[in-house]
Amino acid sequence: MTGSGGGQLWAGRFSVAPAPEAHALGRSIAFDARLAQDDVEAGVAHVRALQDAGLLTPAETGALAEALADVGEEIAHGRFVFDDADEDVHSAIERAVTDRLGDLGAKLHAGRSRNDLVVTDLRLWMLAAGRRIDAGLAALVTVLVARAREHEATVMPGTTHARFAQPVTLGHHLLAHGWAFSRDLERFAEWAVRTSTSPLGAGAIATSTLGLDPDMTAARLGFHRAFRNSIDAVSDRDFVQEFLGDAAISATHLSRLGADLARWTDESLAWASLDEAYSTGSSMMPQKRNPDTAELARGKAARVGADFVAVTALLQGLPLGYHRDLQEDKEPAFDAADTLELVLPALAGAVATLRFDAAAMRAACASEGLYATDLAEALVQDGVPFREAHERTGELLKRLASEGRALAELDDEEWAAFGVPDGSRMLDPDASVAARTMPGGPSVESVRTQADALAALVAARPVNP
Ligand code: ARG
Repeated sequence: MTGSGGGQLWAGRFSVAPAPEAHALGRSIAFDARLAQDDVEAGVAHVRALQDAGLLTPAETGALAEALADVGEEIAHGRFVFDDADEDVHSAIERAVTDRLGDLGAKLHAGRSRNDLVVTDLRLWMLAAGRRIDAGLAALVTVLVARAREHEATVMPGTTHARFAQPVTLGHHLLAHGWAFSRDLERFAEWAVRTSTSPLGAGAIATSTLGLDPDMTAARLGFHRAFRNSIDAVSDRDFVQEFLGDAAISATHLSRLGADLARWTDESLAWASLDEAYSTGSSMMPQKRNPDTAELARGKAARVGADFVAVTALLQGLPLGYHRDLQEDKEPAFDAADTLELVLPALAGAVATLRFDAAAMRAACASEGLYATDLAEALVQDGVPFREAHERTGELLKRLASEGRALAELDDEEWAAFGVPDGSRMLDPDASVAARTMPGGPSVESVRTQADALAALVAARPVNP
């Protein structure tokens, strides 16, 4: 290292080393070391660009690429020693290459800035995380589809306001979660297309005079395209913000599935029980089997939402160009990706092993209120205006309640008087569900059609670039 500072890459212009507390504030190695392999990859693509531009001989390029790979190996195996003066992973890797190669290492950073490098690394890292999340989401949808197929005809009370509303099938309800996750898959795939843009070559803000070819570099790194504007290239954090928005939505979906699992497995419903492998005991109460997996899926959504809010607040009002504020984009991005990667397989496992109590769900369908809408609709089929049918049905229920009787106790005459002669046969969850022949409804046929469509969507989903 040259210069009179504290050993920093930029020390030439400085006469004193950074104050220790300022250095501590700026140092990002604790979190950005996760970008090391991406930084090496970007470094190798960059030295090839320097060679193409005639600034490095093939031998020099080979030596630099080898040194970069070597440093990457050391970091991967935990053998790398970060220097106190290393500010971030980018400076640590460049410093280590220079330690190995001396003057040749000092050629590495020509035409490159940490401003374009850091976003190149982060895009590479996040695209890889996106592929893992895509796989996790696809696996979860696949589990939901399989469980839905098993329970295409299992009747249960559908609820609104968490109160019994109308009979549905369990398969229909499970697929409702599946459709939500399929939209997450689509969102992450669309995000990946936009994110697959290489910023390398943008330099600090204004590219360079060195004749580098950003398109070639983009292709070498597997990006779809290179940046179109160097200022945008170093300023753009849409790809982080959008990822976090998509992640927050997906985490919300996971939390809602967790909420259903917690509810279905509580003692008041007991429609399902979590496998022991996905439950936890209590440190004090020996009888307990708690739904912590489901609850954490619910609770973890809060931090992912907060990650989105943090990066949104970070970017709002920030002028274009690189600012050190932008260093704060990484921890929320890593946190959201890590959280999804934790929750997705845990919930998939919990759903795959969940034991449903079909008999308990069917028994709950004895609640007669579930059929009130069907009775009103039977009147509508006979030409009664719906408002009147609603009122007549409501009045019947009110009268029966005051008499302490149930719909099941009505005789044929009473049903005829009400206007629905086969009313007694309608108090049946299978009949109720079967009568819903519309596509998108809870019938067995609809569940099959939906399951096929969802499975096909997952199988044909675009490959994340
Ligand atoms: N550690 C920095 C970050 O994460 C890298 C870029 C630093 N660039 C600079 N000009 N100080 O954003």
